[in-house]
Amino acid sequence: MSTTMYYFSGTGNSFFVAKELKKAFSGAELIPVVQAIQSDLVVTAADTVGFVFPCHGLTIPIPVKILMKKLDATSSDYFFATATRGGSVFRGFSIIDKALRKQGKKLNASFIINMALNDPKLSAFDVPSKEDLQALEEQAVQKIQDIKEIVEQRTTHHDDTAGVTFSTSNLLNWFLERLIPFMTHFISPAVKKYFYIDDKCTGCGTCEKVCPTQKLKMADNKPVWQRNVDCYLCYACLNFCPSKAIQIYSKVWMKSYTTERGRYPHPYVSLKDMAKQKNS
Ligand SMILES: Cc1cc2nc3c(=O)[nH]c(=O)nc-3n(C[C@H](O)[C@H](O)[C@H](O)COP(=O)(O)O)c2cc1C
Repeated sequence: MSTTMYYFSGTGNSFFVAKELKKAFSGAELIPVVQAIQSDLVVTAADTVGFVFPCHGLTIPIPVKILMKKLDATSSDYFFATATRGGSVFRGFSIIDKALRKQGKKLNASFIINMALNDPKLSAFDVPSKEDLQALEEQAVQKIQDIKEIVEQRTTHHDDTAGVTFSTSNLLNWFLERLIPFMTHFISPAVKKYFYIDDKCTGCGTCEKVCPTQKLKMADNKPVWQRNVDCYLCYACLNFCPSKAIQIYSKVWMKSYTTERGRYPHPYVSLKDMAKQKNS
């Protein structure tokens, strides 16, 4: 069985999972989504194709959506997807399944792995303790073993994607679970003034290194978010900044969401690992 896995990761959770899955499937190839989508057409000859990525706004992240539009899946016959998340409902597997069905294929297996939340603008965000991280890692490693067995046997399996809901009103939940993915894919990349730096910025350039696109460029020793480049909303710049100098500004509430909050990058991931996503 030949296996290719496409991965996208902002702060290392999904990279950790992808790396562990690579170890589990001997000879598997790991391809960064951000590199794959540089081509107009993404062709794979592997028998089994996997996708590993974080949940963003209840759905798949922007680059994975682009990948699904470009992927030629005709030579492969088993597909699985693994979403890492902080814990909300996840509504993105149907997008992958729909794209595959257009080519006469389907998403055979889908998995959810709960990991540390990397979104400091949410009130639920808290920097995880060592014990929390250890517990999450143990669960993740167990889940990776389950994924290995299911994928190797090529069985059909779909994890429950339910998570926390937003309110006790079913109607409101129904509405929000559709509105949030819509905002993630159509509104957020268009937002121009989202990130900003405060006076703690030392000009070290870490943010430019870890940004998986060309969105962030250093100019006069300061990061500048390029207006004509889409942001993938991965929050790598925010979470890896060693001075916590990158902040998110809320246009709605007209205040910073993040100045008082900590940051979360996965404990084992290196800046080099993240930089490799765009430069192999
Ligand atoms: C912009 C953004 C949106 C997110 N949305 C959700 C969400 O809707 N539900 C959830 O459970 N986690 C959400 N998260 C948390 C991530 O899915 C989670 O921390 C993930 O494991 C991060 O993976 P990574 O380190 O590979 O980027 C979001 C994170 C970001 C940056």
